[in-house]
Amino acid sequence: MSYGRITPENIAELQGIVGEKYVWTDVDKLIPYEKDEGVEREYFRRPDAVVLPETVEQVAEVLKLANRERIPVVPRGAGTGLEFGAVVNEYGGIVLSTERMNRILELNADAMYMVVEPGVITAELQKEAKAQGLLYAGDPCSGDSCFIGGNAATNAGGNRAVKYGTTRDQIYSIEVVTPTGEIAHFGGRLKKTASGYPLEDIIIGSEGTLGIITKLTLKLVPLPKYTADILAVFPTVDQALSLVTALPRAGIQATCLECMDNDVIRVVEAYLDEKQPYADEGGNYMIIQLDGKSEDDLDDICIAVDDICRAQGALEVFVADAAKVWNARKAFTEASAAECPVAAMEDFVVPPDRLADLLDQLAVIGKNVGVCFRGVSHAGDGNLHLDVLRRGFAPDEEEAKIAAFEDAACAAVYGLGGAVSGEHGIGQKRKALLAKYADPVALELMKAVKKAFDPNLILNPGKIFDI
Ligand code: LAC
Ligand code: ZN
Repeated sequence: MSYGRITPENIAELQGIVGEKYVWTDVDKLIPYEKDEGVEREYFRRPDAVVLPETVEQVAEVLKLANRERIPVVPRGAGTGLEFGAVVNEYGGIVLSTERMNRILELNADAMYMVVEPGVITAELQKEAKAQGLLYAGDPCSGDSCFIGGNAATNAGGNRAVKYGTTRDQIYSIEVVTPTGEIAHFGGRLKKTASGYPLEDIIIGSEGTLGIITKLTLKLVPLPKYTADILAVFPTVDQALSLVTALPRAGIQATCLECMDNDVIRVVEAYLDEKQPYADEGGNYMIIQLDGKSEDDLDDICIAVDDICRAQGALEVFVADAAKVWNARKAFTEASAAECPVAAMEDFVVPPDRLADLLDQLAVIGKNVGVCFRGVSHAGDGNLHLDVLRRGFAPDEEEAKIAAFEDAACAAVYGLGGAVSGEHGIGQKRKALLAKYADPVALELMKAVKKAFDPNLILNPGKIFDI
């Protein structure tokens, strides 16, 4: 595929569409858009221009121009991704930022839904819902800064996915601009539909390769009134992970089930300079968020959870200071990077009951390859975030070590019925692994879908896979 270079005439036309002020080509304005929150500097790349439309019609006009001129367009929300999905690659082109499309258009408390533009910060819409006694249940760790449009584009997960599912499960319908500049509406505020392919579900999680989401109708649920954050401390990670099956088996639906091992707890303790319980005694955490219909109901659930944890060998089970325990959990990425530079960040997912097996296999692979890593897991989802540390090998060995580790790790992950990314996506970083390990028929069909939506391959080219 050969692409057009953006010309001064294209810039003038773009200015005509979105306004002169909202087409940026000055280097200092482009710099923030050359990266996301991933650590791999080889993917840093400056766009030729950043375009900031305000309306769906403007997005459509920009895409028509880009499609006509064969200019790549990379849609971008808040840039909190880790896989460089919202950063240009070797094809260059325009970054289309949704940051000006940031309005909450409607909140219907009776019918429990809200309609928002893609550039609304997730925490902001959560706050709006909360003010009405409602919950928007999507909950990525970057909630304070990420945009809802990016959450949908990547099908972001997060801590509450155990109970509520990922972003896909929070969406009724979306408005989308296709790569050829058509405005379309997929899905509906329906409890059921048997009316053709669910195209909204193909767009959600497609990482901005099939269309640009310009409006979303989100599901809301009643805000749980009675909640508790339990911290269960175990002598071993395996014991902590036994809860992943023991709780559902006992009919207990946790909202969150997050596992932190002792190594991570100590690193977070040092980073936050805040004593963490049982850090010195070799404790491993399972953070369990629970809710109940009443205080008594919640008490009963907490007692049942306490019994199960103790039966699995817990050293201690207590109601945690929610702010403190979540602060510790959410500090993982920063704390890890502060302690030792991170060479690669992984996001494996396996069936939750196989997570302990995966960790055992990864320990062996790490030793064999000669890499150290540390990780936390959204344990209830079987989703493991793993930081491979830049430690124990020479700089010129890094590329080969990481590649060997990722290859062996993926073989283990897929062998356990898993996948290369649970919630961060493929972007630019995991293309080779997806190409090697995904079902080949599925991959070919994905490419056919891409061509059906985007015949000239102008929208976020070279992401997820190469064609
Ligand atoms: C987390 C982010 C990295 O769960 O997804 O901490
Ligand atoms: Zn996560």
